Amino acid sequence: MSRSPAFHELMALLGVGDLHPGGLQATRFLLSELARHRVRSVLEVGAGMGLTTERMIRSGLEVTAVEPNPILRRLLEERVGIAAHETSFEAFDDRDATYDAVLAEGVLYKLGPASSAAKVHRLLRPGGILAFVDMLWTRSAKADVVAFLHDQTNEVFGIPMVPREVVTWEEWKGVLRELGFSEIVTKAIDPVELPADGRSRRARIALGLLKHPGLLPAFLGYRSYRRIPWAPPEWLESLTSVWQRGA
Ligand SMILES: C[S@@+](CC[C@H](N)C(=O)[O-])C[C@H]1O[C@@H](n2cnc3c(N)ncnc32)[C@H](O)[C@@H]1O
Repeated sequence: MSRSPAFHELMALLGVGDLHPGGLQATRFLLSELARHRVRSVLEVGAGMGLTTERMIRSGLEVTAVEPNPILRRLLEERVGIAAHETSFEAFDDRDATYDAVLAEGVLYKLGPASSAAKVHRLLRPGGILAFVDMLWTRSAKADVVAFLHDQTNEVFGIPMVPREVVTWEEWKGVLRELGFSEIVTKAIDPVELPADGRSRRARIALGLLKHPGLLPAFLGYRSYRRIPWAPPEWLESLTSVWQRGA
């Protein structure tokens, strides 16, 4: 790779996935909701290196994965053994789609509620399930600082860590309800990493760095930035949420 890897690419190259708020715990919750609703076919948006893709395939689900990033897509395809769609979610063909569920972990915040909720609606069969986890701004956040933080994190990490506009959970709910979705369950996520998740992540990083020592400078660079509290904690909230499309 000629350029230095973006944060999510670096983590995947080191073997670390579940790059969304709540990590594995949040994924377990969403997958248990899919099972409870007897979902069979799932469209996974922004599947990353495919950890959740693999979990779903192992439990017998038919998974269609969308991953526009070539590095992550290659890792996903090598690990999981399926071909992922290389388009963005926006460009993914939604004609004649009748998925039982759309799952998105740490992706929709980037796209915003208006266009992504309408797209999810077109992709789901009537009664289908939208399951997602994301970090959103609260009403306390200041619009001009928010745009700055979006652009800065995008520049530093190679991926924005937050939405560019002050999009709150209230707005998301309004858009989904207007489209005829009903809320099944929403849980707030404690942003603090769970000890078990943190330990296994650190072990993976150590092994990844042993295998790819050339990634150490990029890793250390990102680590110093990750330690900076770049937004007041009350400006952000993280949620897992499950909705059902109307008939
Ligand atoms: C924070 S990572 C999360 C990856 C994975 N879902 C996980 O939880 O580990 C965001 C993912 O969304 C993908 N992505 C970014 N923009 C996208 C878009 N417009 N359509 C679909 N996926 C996108 C990125 O390539 C990346 O894999």
